[in-house]
Amino acid sequence: MGGISVGGISGAADISHDEAAGTWLLRMRSTAYAFGLAGDGTAVRHLYWGPRVPPQAVAGLLAGARADQPRERYRSWALERPDEYVPWGGIRFDEPSLKVEYADGTRAIEWRYAGQRISRDRGAVTLELDLADVAYDLTVTLAYRVYDGFDVLERWATLRNTGQRDPIVVRQAHAANWWLPPRDRWRLRYLHGGWGAETQIAEAVPGPGKFVLESRRGTTSHQFNPWFSLDPGTATEESGEVWSGELAWSGSWKLVCEQTSAGRLHVGGGWNEFDWSQRLAPGQSLVLPSFAGLHTTGGFGAASREWHAWQRARVLGRGDRTGLVTPRWHAEPAARPAPVADEPALRPVLYNSWEATSFAVSQDGQERLAETAARIGVECFVVDDGWFRGRDHDHAGLGDWTVDQAKFPRGLGPLVKRVGELGMTFGIWVEPEMVNPDSDLYRAHPDWVYHFGNRTRSEHRNQLVLNLARPDVADYLYQSLDRLLSGDDIRFVKWDMNRPFSEPGWPAEAGRDPERAWVEHVRTLYAIIDALRAAHPGVDFESCSGGGGRIDLGILGRVEQVWTSDNTDAWDRVAIQEGFTQAYAPSVMMAWVTDSPNYLTGRRLPLSFRFHVAMAGSLGIGADLIQWTEADEAEAAGLIAEYKQIRPVVQGGRLYRLASTAAGPLGAHQYVAADGAEAVVLAWWGPGQCEPGRPRLRLAGLEDGARYADPATGAAHWGAELARDGLELPAGASDFGSVLVRLVRQDG
Ligand code: GLA
Repeated sequence: MGGISVGGISGAADISHDEAAGTWLLRMRSTAYAFGLAGDGTAVRHLYWGPRVPPQAVAGLLAGARADQPRERYRSWALERPDEYVPWGGIRFDEPSLKVEYADGTRAIEWRYAGQRISRDRGAVTLELDLADVAYDLTVTLAYRVYDGFDVLERWATLRNTGQRDPIVVRQAHAANWWLPPRDRWRLRYLHGGWGAETQIAEAVPGPGKFVLESRRGTTSHQFNPWFSLDPGTATEESGEVWSGELAWSGSWKLVCEQTSAGRLHVGGGWNEFDWSQRLAPGQSLVLPSFAGLHTTGGFGAASREWHAWQRARVLGRGDRTGLVTPRWHAEPAARPAPVADEPALRPVLYNSWEATSFAVSQDGQERLAETAARIGVECFVVDDGWFRGRDHDHAGLGDWTVDQAKFPRGLGPLVKRVGELGMTFGIWVEPEMVNPDSDLYRAHPDWVYHFGNRTRSEHRNQLVLNLARPDVADYLYQSLDRLLSGDDIRFVKWDMNRPFSEPGWPAEAGRDPERAWVEHVRTLYAIIDALRAAHPGVDFESCSGGGGRIDLGILGRVEQVWTSDNTDAWDRVAIQEGFTQAYAPSVMMAWVTDSPNYLTGRRLPLSFRFHVAMAGSLGIGADLIQWTEADEAEAAGLIAEYKQIRPVVQGGRLYRLASTAAGPLGAHQYVAADGAEAVVLAWWGPGQCEPGRPRLRLAGLEDGARYADPATGAAHWGAELARDGLELPAGASDFGSVLVRLVRQDG
């Protein structure tokens, strides 16, 4: 086979191009993906996505895809063109990836293959394939990136106006389009929810037609998460074919799962084109967000583990992955470099004051909380809402990011110092994209919010959304936050965003596509966080949005963790966390232990249960510690110490969801250390449901021939026994009982 191949290291990802055949084969750890040119280079056809195959297999696939079927010309499947990235133009009725309008009013794309580049950088191989419109100045570069050691394929596209004179209006631009192989039926799994009930697993059978998941809210949303999983209806937690995808975007997005008239399934997704279009000036480029996909034969569990490991190794906090923004906030887009590969540091045990104090924060009150927090083993102390000027309730203050002198007469300095003396780092809450009408900022700049001249400015939680697409707003926010982080020794920022957009107008830009703000808001948000991270490298970030309203690959590229939900009821969290871990790594899943009865549900739960549920992710405490008894403190201190012991396994290991409370009385997660030397089991019993007999949990991911000992009891078992007969759990546990079992492999 002639052609170009980059990769070749054993077990490494590689991309090979057979120039003569016009095909590309992308090989990942155990899977492969292929496509090829058709129609004399006027189309790029999808060929394959499944288990790893040798290069010889690809040419045959292309021949099949090209074969002419004259007698079938009028059948819908003869019109079917599984284009890698679907340009709108010609006889085409399925969901397009790209739709543009040229200056003379032409609205159809006809393009031709114009070259390709393959490069290797930092353990990743990237293919860029150029398509140029045959009559107009538009070049579209389809990018594909595969990573050594992973089955994740990351895709994105870059649009370029290569002309000198005319703008091009982009009306729909998806990040990528994924074709699934033919199967008799499909099952779509996705995550839906609302405030206090995020990441609930939903299933649907995508039949003929379209199944659309989207956000039109300007932010990722609680309602749906930009993640999907598709399987032929036969996958289980630990077996079966699964294809999954997740989109790196934190604004309005859309995923369309469509069964074409010929019965083929494809999923396109990216920016939501609703109410949006963007002008591409001569010489300008638009880098679209990335959309990652993977295939596995190991069921939902293997798909999740792949996402978790890849996110940890290649996504979390890696900075700019999306390109560019407003002139002052970004230069022209550079190539998107492969992210640095490393394992993120372990997340500290955090305390957050919100449920304890609400807006009633004070120097003394926070110090008292900090003293108890330090005693029980907390490592990072975070002051939530209420610390800044005018913020005694949620009617005022947002926008004025200076310390409330009434609450902190000498600024935050003394509290930050005290927290440091107690051996903890200091963190703070902000909600930069928002403003209360009752604030100095709004009084000075009422035109800085999204609005239409003659329409109501709808308030939500008494606040309005700042138009981040405006460079003056971006400057103000960057400077306010830079000042805050430059003053005191702040090491953690909880970046909140508590309302969706409404009346998304930008009157000053009337006639100059003000609706581009839907996209530019998010790109500016990314740019501001990227710039702050660069200027303050010791500061960690958490993404929050009224709980879990902004969790996606895009924001994960610039934060260390996310706030999972404002619902801190540990029983409700079991389901929320099961959904969350389908798509995102447990290490980023912030989970607080809060008071009982729970402020939201009124449910009373034992402290140990609340801890054992929160220990399934990144542990935090959000209780009013002043009210705790000595016994509570002692129990919490013991559990936090235990968490620190299991933390490397929970945060850096492989997650096996052993039992789901959706299916029975017991929920359980097992984590296996990356080197297999240790495993942790967390099990939680639901209300009033007792199983007959003594419950056993069949463990996963262990070596059959190794022995594992429980350091707490000394009991040791063979891996084969734990996998076949299961781990025996305490008898009689029910009604919010819970256990934590640690197993250490006995080497030698
Ligand atoms: C949102 C967050 C909470 C808290 C409040 C503060 O609701 O999700 O955790 O920070 O805002 O106003």
